[in-house]
Amino acid sequence: MTPPAQVYSYDVRNSLSKRPLLGFWRVMTGFHRLYLLAVAALSLSALFSTGATLLIREFIDHQLPRPDLAQIAPWFALAFLLLAALQGAFSFLSGRWASKTAESLALRLRDAMYDHIQRLSFRYHDKMPTGELLSRATSDLDAVRRFFNEQAIGVGRILILFAINFTALLLLNVELALISVIVVPVIIVLSLFFFGKISAYYEKVQEQEAVLSTTLQENLTGVRVVKAFARQEYERNKFEKENFEQYQRGRRFLMMHSLFWPLTDVICFAQMIGGYFIAATMVINGTLTPGSYVAYVSLVTMIINPMRNLGRLIVDMSTGLVSYKRMMEVIAEDQESLIDGTYKPTGDLRGDVEVKNLTFGYDPDTVVLKDISFSVKAGQSVALLGSTGSGKTSLLGLLPRFYEYSTGSITIDGIELKDIPRGWLRGQIGVVEQEPFLFSRTIRENITYGVTREVSDAEVYAAAKAAAVHDVIMTFPDGYNTLVGERGVTLSGGQKQRVALARTLLKDPRILILDDATSSVDSETEDDIRQALLRLMKGRTSFVIAHRIQTVMHADLILVLDEGEIVQRGTHQSLMAEDGIYRRVVELQTRIEEEVEREVTDGIGLPV
Ligand code: CTP
Ligand code: MG
Repeated sequence: MTPPAQVYSYDVRNSLSKRPLLGFWRVMTGFHRLYLLAVAALSLSALFSTGATLLIREFIDHQLPRPDLAQIAPWFALAFLLLAALQGAFSFLSGRWASKTAESLALRLRDAMYDHIQRLSFRYHDKMPTGELLSRATSDLDAVRRFFNEQAIGVGRILILFAINFTALLLLNVELALISVIVVPVIIVLSLFFFGKISAYYEKVQEQEAVLSTTLQENLTGVRVVKAFARQEYERNKFEKENFEQYQRGRRFLMMHSLFWPLTDVICFAQMIGGYFIAATMVINGTLTPGSYVAYVSLVTMIINPMRNLGRLIVDMSTGLVSYKRMMEVIAEDQESLIDGTYKPTGDLRGDVEVKNLTFGYDPDTVVLKDISFSVKAGQSVALLGSTGSGKTSLLGLLPRFYEYSTGSITIDGIELKDIPRGWLRGQIGVVEQEPFLFSRTIRENITYGVTREVSDAEVYAAAKAAAVHDVIMTFPDGYNTLVGERGVTLSGGQKQRVALARTLLKDPRILILDDATSSVDSETEDDIRQALLRLMKGRTSFVIAHRIQTVMHADLILVLDEGEIVQRGTHQSLMAEDGIYRRVVELQTRIEEEVEREVTDGIGLPV
């Protein structure tokens, strides 16, 4: 089965509106007819059902005493069966159409949400907790689905039933008809009041739901930390606290609900009794026939019930509307455009990079990079060294436009980065992140993730060999088809880094960024990788962040960062001649290595 074609013919972002009901109507684009059919079918089904009730009433009141009962009874039975069958058929149709509408819209919203979330900027993801997005994409989306499936259809049905029965009542007796709807304004005002209250409480419930889901998600992601520090008790208390808060919010929300229902019931019943009383007085005074009285009594229940339900529906709708609003808050966030920029690429980039007076911060008031300037020719390598938090990752994160800078300039081949379309730019730059992430797919799928064309095994092997991970992969049960993650092998930190490196190398980028890409790899393997990279990186510009001097020393340009500033720059030779951080780091590392070596040599003589 394929999804209905019209599901994807509408861009959900067009439905953003200050008025949620209008927004809903727009989201339903392509399904309006189906929705109205569902409403109509449900109303018809309800009419047939009241028809059947009226038929029984007629039979008992007027036909039962007749002498020729035996002849009419089968006809009544037949008519009753027919009405019941019609009622069932239309109720089935309505359910079918309603669910098709609701499920199609849920499909549309879910896909739109997923697509949108992955196009949001890094900046947004930095600030938005994962659990919050998860709860909006699941729990809130489900409330919206229910709204379409139940409440939206219900409101249509109620309005139609009310209109039909009210017209019937008007035809019977205008005065009585008007008297019977006297409480309608009261119910509406009351519903709106509770609508506001319940919306507010429900929003609080959903907010807390997101907190719970963030807590759970963090706990699961950080399960190793929790266990390592034996903080289960603390985590449980933390969750219990949040959970109890949810309990209270949930209770307040349901309290409002349970306050509203009996209130409207009392009003409706008062209305009904009052109506009966007035109608009865009219019969006594002779202004109403007994027959009309009987008809009135049955019609009035048919009008009061929708009235009661309307109130409930309005209140129930608040949940759908609040959830819709929460979803739309995400949808309203600007996507990070992949095609912005005036530059029209003609071929691959060469890779001349120039950074001039660059100042950058994630927030406007904190400066992470201060007045950075340097330039590098195509094919050269740059190494970045600096204490933790000095801004190395931040600086290189600007090159693929993960974040936007506002002061200073960065150009590649003389083109300002802002003018180069993100999608294309990122195709030219290969990044091995500081904490690489692998998907729960096969190793091969992970390595080929960055390329859209068909890749031969030989190419995959070559990339893996360059990353010094081919031999390791071959020892796995299914080789390159071994699954990574929960259902497959758990890779070590260094293996993960090397698979990520292979993934980037296979992409064959013009500019390579290695953010501490060999930090979890032993020195010997790192050496292998370095040799392979030296060959591979010919003619490409590369940026390497590393702490080991051996990795850094061969670079054409070494930048030493401290608190967001370049404090030293040059080659290994020139920096060794200066008195500064670089030489101190080199001396420290050599001393440590010598000591380790001495210990190993001395250790040989020790008894085993
Ligand atoms: N930072 C931030 N928001 C981010 C990433 C980083 O505010 N999304 C801040 C950090 O708090 C830090 C500064 O930016 O103070 C520099 O961070 P980063 O560039 O990641 O530092 P590195 O030099 O890469 O540090 P490390 O060696 O530990 O990776
Ligand atoms: Mg870093």
